[in-house]
Amino acid sequence: MCGIVGYIGDREALPVLINGLKRLEYRGYDSAGVALLRNQIDVYKCKGKVSDLERFMGDAPHSGNIGMGHTRWATHGEPNDVNAHPHTSYNGKFVIIHNGIIENYARLRERLKERGVHFKSETDTEVLCNLIGYIYENSEVDAEMAVRLALSKVVGAYGLVVMCVDEPDKLIAARKGSPLVIGVGNEEYFLASDATPIVEYTKSVIYLNDGDVAIIRKEQLILKTSAQDVAVPKVQQLTFDIGEIDKGGYEHFMLKEIFEQPQSIEDTFRGRVRADELELHLGGLYEVLPQLVEAKRIVIIGCGTSWHAGLVGEYLFEDLARIPVEVEYASEFRYRNPIIHKDDIVIAISQSGETADTLAAIKLAKEKGALVLGICNVVGSSIPRETDAGVYTHAGPEIGVASTKAFTCQVTVLAMMAILIGKKKGVLSTERYHDLIKEFIKVPAKTQRILALADHIKKIASLYQNVTNALYLGRGYLFPVALEGALKLKEISYIHAEGYPAAEMKHGPIALIDDKMPVVVVATKDSSYEKIVSNIQEVKARSGIVIAVVTEGDTVIRDMADHVIEIPEAENVYATLLSVVPLQLLSYYIAVMRGCNVDQPRNLAKSVTVE
Ligand code: M6R
Repeated sequence: MCGIVGYIGDREALPVLINGLKRLEYRGYDSAGVALLRNQIDVYKCKGKVSDLERFMGDAPHSGNIGMGHTRWATHGEPNDVNAHPHTSYNGKFVIIHNGIIENYARLRERLKERGVHFKSETDTEVLCNLIGYIYENSEVDAEMAVRLALSKVVGAYGLVVMCVDEPDKLIAARKGSPLVIGVGNEEYFLASDATPIVEYTKSVIYLNDGDVAIIRKEQLILKTSAQDVAVPKVQQLTFDIGEIDKGGYEHFMLKEIFEQPQSIEDTFRGRVRADELELHLGGLYEVLPQLVEAKRIVIIGCGTSWHAGLVGEYLFEDLARIPVEVEYASEFRYRNPIIHKDDIVIAISQSGETADTLAAIKLAKEKGALVLGICNVVGSSIPRETDAGVYTHAGPEIGVASTKAFTCQVTVLAMMAILIGKKKGVLSTERYHDLIKEFIKVPAKTQRILALADHIKKIASLYQNVTNALYLGRGYLFPVALEGALKLKEISYIHAEGYPAAEMKHGPIALIDDKMPVVVVATKDSSYEKIVSNIQEVKARSGIVIAVVTEGDTVIRDMADHVIEIPEAENVYATLLSVVPLQLLSYYIAVMRGCNVDQPRNLAKSVTVE
């Protein structure tokens, strides 16, 4: 979380920085700021969004060819003007922007205070900035060494950019635990927390590794590793275009991303699910496939929506490949001394590839000797680089804070993996394998048909926009879909919502049922259909309101429920992909009708890079 941008070259830096901050605002939007260097360093910052910063700066010219910008998700210190980045050192020598957490900031702050250093903000970042300034002032070192020495005293995570007023020809960038990408132009460099602000200027990028420090002049980039060795930067080419990170005519990124799902699901299985040969290939897993086939246990880790995708994965691997699965919140995993054997397979799921809790869990699993695989969306992000092998989802950039297309693409990958392993293990007959492949190919078109129900779903949303609570129910494969539907509603509309296995309702939540709270039931036709029909009757018997997602032509539930959303027929394996789409739309429309900022819900950030 927190977005970082930087620029050095011949252009005016400010438009590059403001543009970049707007693209990164999904990472945090509590405050924003920029620093521009020309003879002196000028800092402008304020509470609020990038648009507030623009208003604050006004129309007066702000010149400089070197600069940095920051959009904040507050960790230490409330969102206000003073706590906004960039921070300036007490002696005015250094300016810094930072993403991450300095865990030992309190002790460092006390020590600096004892030496007469004054602080203006409550942030851990200012502590680091003052530490750099103090070392620079009291030792015979240059700016780079002052940064290095300060970082050697720091416990925690950082992606940061520093400017020094005495060395006005350079930016210094460093990374440990928080991502940083450098865009390589013609005698110019761009810096950012991810590649979205960079792609419109250059497709050549360098991803910094943990421990790297980059000294960036307009005509030269020097990259040094944690051992202070000069390293040859590995320049990679971005594979997406600027058009993919625009709203494309939709009112919100979230709506655009919901509507992109037929394409993104297809992009994720293209070249992997082969209709012509009725075969499935996953190149990223080729070398580890024998271990997957022999696996005694799979442990899936993730957070939020990615954890929900992991729960679908549990059903998929156990059903299709007969491998026992445990699904763990990455944030809990390492705090409970987990039992991981060397022959366990750990699968980490993450859209961003930067979630700190997931990264920490991966490190622990590797320490314990497990083979760790990644399912990730952002190419070149930390998780694919930390894992032994993996499969990319090809969802394209997901900008809306509420995850939508990432979920369906993660489930697409998990389904491909389970089917492939099931076949290789001999659990799936060739006939079943071929049937699953044929059905896979139909998912994008079926998803498209669900999107055509948007107006119908919008009408249902209009009836329930003012509720304060909602219950989501599902069984089997569709239970994680209920959880995901509830998360979508609460995170963007601020309506309290709970997801439950439908049969668990009678063990407690049934007490909540009244004629005001909608109960959203995912009830497509599968082996537990009769049971969920009974659950719906239990709700109706208590004057509850039922919104049911059902299989097309289901007259039984239509006669019982208050509203039905009919989706194309699909077996369990694919019903998860289809049934989540109406729930995404329902949440979206309710949030819009309530006047909520769906792309940037309060208190949230897209990429949670702090533990
Ligand atoms: O980037 P990741 O998939 O690792 O992110 C995990 C969660 O932070 C994320 O899914 C979050 O729960 C979303 N806001 C859900 O919509």
